[in-house]
This record gives sequence, C-alpha cells and structure tokens, in this order.
Amino acid sequence: MISEAPKPSDQLLSTVAQLKPPFYLIDEAALVTNLEILRDVANRSGAKIVLAQKAFAQPQLYPLIGRYLDGACASGHWEAELARTHLPEEAEVITCSPAYNDEDISALLPISDHLDFNSLSQWSRYREQCLSYRVEHHSSIHFGLRINPEFSTGETPLYDPCASGSRLGITVEQLRGCELLDGISGLHFHTLCEQGLDDLADTIQAVEEKFGWLLSQEQICYLNLGGGHWITKDGYDREGLVRLIQELTTKYQLQVYLEPGEAVAIHSGILVGTVLDLHRNGDVTNAILDLSATAHMPDVLEMPYRPDVYLDGTLALESGEHLYRLTGNTCLAGDQIGDYAFHRSLQVGDQIVFNDMAHYTMVKTTFFNGVKHPAIHLHHTDGSLSTLREYSYQDYLALKK
Ligand SMILES: Cc1ncc(COP(=O)(O)O)c(C=O)c1O
Repeated sequence: MISEAPKPSDQLLSTVAQLKPPFYLIDEAALVTNLEILRDVANRSGAKIVLAQKAFAQPQLYPLIGRYLDGACASGHWEAELARTHLPEEAEVITCSPAYNDEDISALLPISDHLDFNSLSQWSRYREQCLSYRVEHHSSIHFGLRINPEFSTGETPLYDPCASGSRLGITVEQLRGCELLDGISGLHFHTLCEQGLDDLADTIQAVEEKFGWLLSQEQICYLNLGGGHWITKDGYDREGLVRLIQELTTKYQLQVYLEPGEAVAIHSGILVGTVLDLHRNGDVTNAILDLSATAHMPDVLEMPYRPDVYLDGTLALESGEHLYRLTGNTCLAGDQIGDYAFHRSLQVGDQIVFNDMAHYTMVKTTFFNGVKHPAIHLHHTDGSLSTLREYSYQDYLALKK
C-alpha cells in the first residue's frame, strides 16, 4: 500500500442527504484531478494512456474522459462498442479478450484500433479473417498478442495473471518457433494490480529477458503495459515512470500504451446505504443495510477488501465502543461487509458512506467487463422452448433517460 484513501470532500459529503439511498455518487472534481495527472504523464512520456473500462464504464462521463485520455481498452464487444460510441471520434479502442467467438471478431474488427489475442490458438483461428479484413477494408487496425512474462509481483493470487497455470497470455515457450507471427505488430502484457513503479520496472526487465528478441523486431510497433499502475496515488514515482517509458520507446522504437482503470477513478466516488435494522445475536450487533456485499461490493468478499466507512463525516475504526457488523440484505449468511466501530451508536435510518467505490465496485454492480449475462430459457413439459429473459447491449448501456 502506498497510502490510504483520503476522506471524500466536504462538498461531496454535504450533498449526500439530498439523495435517496442506496446510491453511488461520483465526484467529478476528483475524477478530473486523476485525469489531469494521467494526461501530464502521457504528454511527458509520449505514452498513450487509455481507460480500462472494467474499472469505470459510465458513458455519460466519456466526453470528459476523452478530453484527457487517448481512448479506452475493452475486454470484448460490449465494452468496445461503449468506447467507440461514447468517446470522441479520434479515441482509440484497444481490445483484448481472454477468448473471442466468431460473432465477436466480426463485430470487433470494424470498431477496434488494436485487436490483441490471448493465445496462439485464437490468433491462428482468426488470423486469415483479420488480415483479409485489413486489406479489403483499407483498415489501419493492428493485431497483437498478449504475452505472459511468468513474473509475479503482486500479493493476491486472485489478481495474478502470472500465477501457475494462468489462462492469461502466451508464455515464451509457446511463442518460440511460432510460424504465425506475420501480421502481428504489437505485444501486450498485464500483470500488476495496485502497484508502484519498482514492480513495473522489474516486470519490464523480465519481459525484456524473455521477449526482447521479439520486441526488437521491426514489425513490433506497440507495447501495451496493461493496467495496475497506481499512477494517481500519492507517492507513485511518476518521474520514474516517464523516464522508463521514454527509455523503452527509444530502445525498441515503438509506441507504449498504458491502460489503467483504478488510477482513473480512484478516490472519486462513494457508495451510500441506510441502516434498515439492528439485529443483536450474542456479542455481535449486525447492522443490516439496504446494500449487499455479494450483490454490490463483491471485492469485499473476493479480494478480500475493507473499505473505509464514514458516519456523519467521521471515519469508523476497527475497534471501539460502538462496534457493529455491517451486513447485507440478501439471504446469504456470509453477506457481511465487515466490523466497524463508530463514534456513536447507530440508529435505524442512519446513512453509511463507503469510500472509494467509483472504480470496480460500480461496474461489478452492473455488467462487469461488459460480459453478457446468460439468457434464461424454459423447456416446457411438451418439449417446446420459450425464452424468459435475454440481455442485450442496450441493457449493458442502460442510460438514464
Ligand atoms: C488486461 C487489463 N488491462 C487493464 C486492467 C486495469 O487494471 P487496473 O484497474 O488495476 O489499472 C486490467 C484489470 O484487471 C486488465 O485485466
């Protein structure tokens, strides 16, 4: 950890009482502060910096984001569509998915600037279609490969694409002797999560040791360093990052891309819920909220992650006199957000503010990574089928009219 989350601004907290919980509240000023830092790093380093939509995908803010960033990265069709239709026309759409199907490829070719492949089997399956598309449509689309440097620097296995047996990226063993590299013009790796410059520098060294032979080839014109860079966090060595990018650019004569998600929206929004009931059992007082860890804040269970919580603008502590277990209103026994000690006893109707919820948590409440929900069909007793529910891109977009 480089530093803890700063308190949400007093201006933001003063508006909370005007809205009906539960809700997320995005702080535009905080978002702009992050965007200004990222633009400055891009300008000084020469890197292109794009938004990772898996962390923040609120299209009404894309015109603002597009004024600062060079585009967005997408993990599939719906995210690519969102970026292409809501960012400014000149914005780049950088697509890389763990796996595509035929429909994805046909939809993505016209709207992506980079289409990166996560395995040689996927590249081999779609290579001819991709290369023919480029010629037939006079397209400037580039095709790249996601590599796996097999170099772990993070602490949470759930967020480690280099963990043993990982499905993310192509290892050097798989790539050596590969006869399909014609048509590939970029390399992409993503291995970091909430990390500083030292981990990036060590990872680049590992990438150079394993993939330097490919990086130096003339056909490679971009290197995408993925996300996980905590660039907008206080204490991040931004000067060092600028130097490192400049060195890479000069050494390999290529365009460097960064695709941060969290760094775009960190410290720029809160989630507010209400206490519905206080339920005492033995030593524990459960405060049941109109929110849920499993439905709205899955990182609290998965990571696991403990968000900062405020009551009346005062930070709750880990222990103290007024200790409560904040819990969700689903039937899952483990729908628990955590134990928090407040400066006073809680009352039904109190508003609880969760800090730093605009990145990841907000998209996980909706359609994480733009991944389609499965349809729901019914097999009737007479053998016929009917469709009960089906989700479309419009459901993912779901803009308020
Ligand atoms: C391929 C890729 N790029 C970018 C990101 C964004 O990472 P972060 O939000 O940590 O910057 C992720 C996150 O999982 C990712 O998988």
